Amino acid sequence: MAEKKILKAKDYTSPELFGLELERIFNHSWHYVGHVDQVATPGQHFATVANNVRVIVARAMDHTLKAYVNVCKHRGSEIIRQGETGQSKLLKCHLHGWFWDLNGDFKGGPFSPKEKPEKAKKLALKSLAVQCLGPFLFVAFETDILPWKGITKVLAKQLADPKLGLHQLKFKERRTYAAAANWKLVIENYMEAQACVLWPRRAQPKKSVKWGANRKNKDPMCMNNCLWPFFLLKLDPGSKNASVHVVQPISEGHTLIHCDYYLAEDASQDHGLVWMHFMDRVQRDDIDTIEQAQEKLATEARPTSHTQEQRDRGIHHFQALVKDFLAGRYSGRLQKV
Ligand code: FES
Repeated sequence: MAEKKILKAKDYTSPELFGLELERIFNHSWHYVGHVDQVATPGQHFATVANNVRVIVARAMDHTLKAYVNVCKHRGSEIIRQGETGQSKLLKCHLHGWFWDLNGDFKGGPFSPKEKPEKAKKLALKSLAVQCLGPFLFVAFETDILPWKGITKVLAKQLADPKLGLHQLKFKERRTYAAAANWKLVIENYMEAQACVLWPRRAQPKKSVKWGANRKNKDPMCMNNCLWPFFLLKLDPGSKNASVHVVQPISEGHTLIHCDYYLAEDASQDHGLVWMHFMDRVQRDDIDTIEQAQEKLATEARPTSHTQEQRDRGIHHFQALVKDFLAGRYSGRLQKV
């Protein structure tokens, strides 16, 4: 098959282009933050990071999902420490104790301006849009973001299959890996290894491709998907499981890869350990491959690919989207403009 690479070597090494990607892709995308099980009941909340911003996700007392920027209006500290979870009607800053209700309204604290209600209004937490894809939670930071239903239509249908048991999964562990490589190589490597479904519709495979040991058996438990731009979901054979790989671009040549592992509650401890050990090895091998590709890019020797057409389609589609977004060819609507 003829090479149809859209991006050039310099597109993976340019700091200027990386700055543009931050502005035009990352700030206008939906970002995975966790699983609904982490906020199953009113008052439950957790602190995490999305798009390099500290975030709190909470279940309000009326059961609605909420997300806020995790920055205290007093001295700018994080309110809930990153990685911490809790259950409370209030979000209380760990530093001096200012507190907010779960609707983000400021409620008081030591030396706070409670005598001036109009000022208290200005101290409300910055709210973020929050959505669910199956049991997975996403937040967005801007108002002119891609419409959620449009971008998740195909994937939402697939993940609704009760055989997958995604809602019964429990979060087990997050492992974070550092790769000395551009974020786009990480995504492309994932697609090259496993054909993916990508939004939007142009040139996308019709449905996800079964992959792995159970491919011939059409095992519904085996699935790999990618949601633009950097949410990677993998379901493997065996007990019900899911691993979410989230790419966090740090610079044009450095990327963090967060791997969240989910397992069914009744999965044996041994199975979980073997599975995560295997995934760890795969991840480390992948990072070696990606870092070697980045080194070649530095010498303008763009690595070639000899993958199957279906897999190439995913990569070409991804690269075309990158190009389109950088050129500002997508509005906040699905259509190209
Ligand atoms: S920094 Fe949060 S209460 Fe002071």
